[in-house]
Amino acid sequence: MSTEPAGASDDALQAGREAAVTAAVLASFEGAADDRYREVMQSLVTHLHAFARDVRLTQAEWEAAVGFLTRTGHITDDRRQEFILLSDVLGFSMLTIAINAPVSAGATESTVFGPFFVADAPTIPIGGDLSFGAKGVPCHVSGRVLGTDGAPLAGAWLEVWQSDEDGFYDVQYAGDVTAARGRLQADDEGRFAFWSVRPAAYPIPDDGPVGDLLKAAGRGPMRPAHIHFMVSAPGHRTLVTHIFAAGDEYLTNDAVFGVKESLVADFADHPAGTAPDGRVLPGPWADVTFDLVLAQET
Ligand code: BEZ
Ligand code: FE
Repeated sequence: MSTEPAGASDDALQAGREAAVTAAVLASFEGAADDRYREVMQSLVTHLHAFARDVRLTQAEWEAAVGFLTRTGHITDDRRQEFILLSDVLGFSMLTIAINAPVSAGATESTVFGPFFVADAPTIPIGGDLSFGAKGVPCHVSGRVLGTDGAPLAGAWLEVWQSDEDGFYDVQYAGDVTAARGRLQADDEGRFAFWSVRPAAYPIPDDGPVGDLLKAAGRGPMRPAHIHFMVSAPGHRTLVTHIFAAGDEYLTNDAVFGVKESLVADFADHPAGTAPDGRVLPGPWADVTFDLVLAQET
């Protein structure tokens, strides 16, 4: 038996039928045993249905979306995660990071993790070289790991990874290469220092559906030059962040919205000569200093 009001206008009937679909789907999650699952799924359905109504989604557009997600799945494997890339270019990764690394006054801001981290990178001593032959201008990176009260976090661990001067990470080369990555431990005063190479801007993988999305939007695939850090110390929230090179042309249009002004640092360029740590450089070199401040664990 119809529950539609007799004599209602077509518009009212249309709105009623659409609302009934949403109500039925929401009700289907009422019996979920897990409260959080129910909350997340009901909110997802509410917003997804509102989106379809908002844009008056056509059948052809629905089919295009299904095709897009299917291609995203097909190109994803152990070495390529197109779904995370999709989340990145939609700013969804950065929004989730913002929600989960809430503001802690004075703490270094977080940014995207990216797909190029490798666990068990080589451990180097303070002042050591983690370039391991990566192509590029030698770059000395130093600073301190601190708490928000300014106290040094002695013995904090730093994981570091970055691109070479051609914009490639070691894992993007054929073979089992380890370069421009490593881990080191801060000293008793929270100080860290290492040699690497000046990082370069690079495109995120854009030969798949995410690349098509960027092209359709008239957007570029580039990320500004940066060095990745993951810093941990007992009693503190692990910090996943980058240092970006000031002056990079892509700072204002990072494909994954990862740039925060507070993370931009000056990389100083120097001619051949002797660096402050005594290393003799036969050609140009660079250096950058940056403190990393960890929020207290709550
Ligand atoms: C990265 O910085 O390594 C990265 C982040 C997001 C997508 C692709 C690469
Ligand atoms: Fe990166």
